[in-house]
Amino acid sequence: MGAGGRVIGAGVSVILVIGVCIAVIGGLKGRNMADEGDVLSTTSKSVAAICNPTDYKQACVESLDTLVSNHTATPTDFIQAAINATIKAVQQTLDHVGIIFDKPEEMNPYQKMAKEDCEDLLNFAVQELQATFSMVGDNDMHSLKDREGEISSWLSSVISYQETCLDGVEESDMKIQLSNGLLNATQLTSNAIAIVSAISGILSNFNITLTTNPESRRLAEREDVKGGEYPGWMRAQDRKLLGSNHKGRVTPNAVVAKDGSGNFKTIGEALAAYPKNHVGRYVIYVKAGIYNEYVTVERTQTNIFMYGDGPRQTIITGKKSFHFDKITTFRTATFSVMGNGFVGKSMGFQNTAGPEGHQAVALRVQADASAFYNCRIDGYQDSLYVQAHRQFYRNCVISGTIDFIFGDSSTLIQNSLIIVRMPMKGQKNSVTAHGRKDRRQTTGLVIQNCRIVPEQKLAPMKNVYPSYLGRPWKEYSRTVIMESIIGDVIQPAGWMEWQGNFALDTLDYAEYGNQGPGSATNQRVRWRGFHVITNRNEALQYTAGQFLQGNTWLPLTGAPHILGLKN
Ligand SMILES: *[C@@H]1O[C@H](CO)[C@@H](O)[C@H](O)[C@H]1NC(C)=O
Ligand SMILES: *[C@@H]1O[C@H](CO)[C@@H](O)[C@H](O)[C@H]1NC(C)=O
Ligand SMILES: *[C@@H]1O[C@H](CO)[C@@H](O)[C@H](O)[C@H]1NC(C)=O
Ligand SMILES: *[C@@H]1O[C@H](CO)[C@@H](O)[C@H](O)[C@H]1NC(C)=O
Repeated sequence: MGAGGRVIGAGVSVILVIGVCIAVIGGLKGRNMADEGDVLSTTSKSVAAICNPTDYKQACVESLDTLVSNHTATPTDFIQAAINATIKAVQQTLDHVGIIFDKPEEMNPYQKMAKEDCEDLLNFAVQELQATFSMVGDNDMHSLKDREGEISSWLSSVISYQETCLDGVEESDMKIQLSNGLLNATQLTSNAIAIVSAISGILSNFNITLTTNPESRRLAEREDVKGGEYPGWMRAQDRKLLGSNHKGRVTPNAVVAKDGSGNFKTIGEALAAYPKNHVGRYVIYVKAGIYNEYVTVERTQTNIFMYGDGPRQTIITGKKSFHFDKITTFRTATFSVMGNGFVGKSMGFQNTAGPEGHQAVALRVQADASAFYNCRIDGYQDSLYVQAHRQFYRNCVISGTIDFIFGDSSTLIQNSLIIVRMPMKGQKNSVTAHGRKDRRQTTGLVIQNCRIVPEQKLAPMKNVYPSYLGRPWKEYSRTVIMESIIGDVIQPAGWMEWQGNFALDTLDYAEYGNQGPGSATNQRVRWRGFHVITNRNEALQYTAGQFLQGNTWLPLTGAPHILGLKN
């Protein structure tokens, strides 16, 4: 197979490499292979081999059974078949939701809401799986390595949605039923991420470039060279426009002003006027003012650039909370962003429910390739819900009390001020609560070159209301604090438990190159999942370039950014 002495990654099993090589060669040579019997046995071996690195092997083998006797199946087919099976499983879960909540007349309003949330979230999951399916199909396999980060991030978001659905359900028996209903879907999603990673690793280890579809290869080559680097979901026309006009003056497509001096008086009206199938950036200027409205940027409203007159001038405020309004955390958000490629600049987002409202989100984001800069996000418990996908924050102020930066996305917060506020009596603060659920997810929360400080009221009370860098919302919670200044508001232990020993072995918390009185690591927690990074290359994994594939999309946002380490 002409590997030419190429070193095989330590994490990739030899059986797998052989198996996939057979599949790859089979895919390349197809009918030229002499002995039909040989081909059959090698293809079924390759299914076993591809399933070998997954965590749910039985489910994997079943999901790929259509490929067992197909000797022309390519690695793309394997990935697509895995995604296909996942789509089916999520659809089955949707039916299951209908069965679990089968008596609407007996349901209280909160349960009805949780049911609707689940249906929405699982539909997102299906749509994103379909998008990932075409992302894999659109690209030649030679670019799988470039796209691996993006594809894994999209598959990771599918798990986030499934979890958010579960999070909304309170009754324990319903939760168990739903969790069982979701089992196939979560397992297959996890498998799909493992398969993408394994195949991508093998292809690059063997330096194999494939032209599965010569026609699409030719098309790709005709596009401008840069085209292939942009996120896979972005349309070619968008790429051209976004690539050309991200610098210089912007002319708003819509102006929002409370005093009537714009085209609209509310942000909601401006969004409602977003033209169907708009190409390129859609620019909304929101003039100074306090906007008392709940805003949702819908999934179809992509590539919006919304800017205000400053984070203290243009403010969107709300006060919904879990406690006072009896609604799911997901629904408390003052401002929600679902449309990919959203950029927010010079605006403030607030939830003023106060600590007594418990969960009360100011800003919720599930948009891929989204960025916020020169912004404020102010709340108490759960201020910033970085729910899913890849997000970037720069030159922002983020304030809150408990778990105030939380979610299951890949998020980097850079050069920002993080303010810990006074909680309710008896409470402890946690800056983060990352929700990575499955070890295959590529999600995590990174805080780089930020300052973590208390609000004035809290400073003298910092030992009465202890504050920590983070706690594990889910088993594989991942958070890295690096190149930041940590104030003495943070306890010497650094991190706190969620509940007893939960996740302490499986979580992934790290600190690198921090300064300030709260940065000493000698009294930090001694959990298996926590470590201090001393190796620069390890820290580089968590930078915008590597962790968010920022080179492909951060330049399009216009946000200042560094792709690597500051020092
Ligand atoms: C085998 O895979 C090839 C390539 O994807 C496909 O065109 C063909 O229809 C498959 N054959 C069978 C029998 O499924
Ligand atoms: C995926 O599913 C669709 C519809 O169920 C089917 O037509 C297609 O052949 C499947 N593709 C693969 C690669 O399994
Ligand atoms: C999960 O998969 C198994 C095996 O394929 C199947 O029997 C079961 O019905 C599935 N469960 C749900 C809830 O779809
Ligand atoms: C892969 O192969 C191509 C052509 O055979 C060669 O130009 C390239 O340098 C190789 N890449 C690596 C990473 O070895």
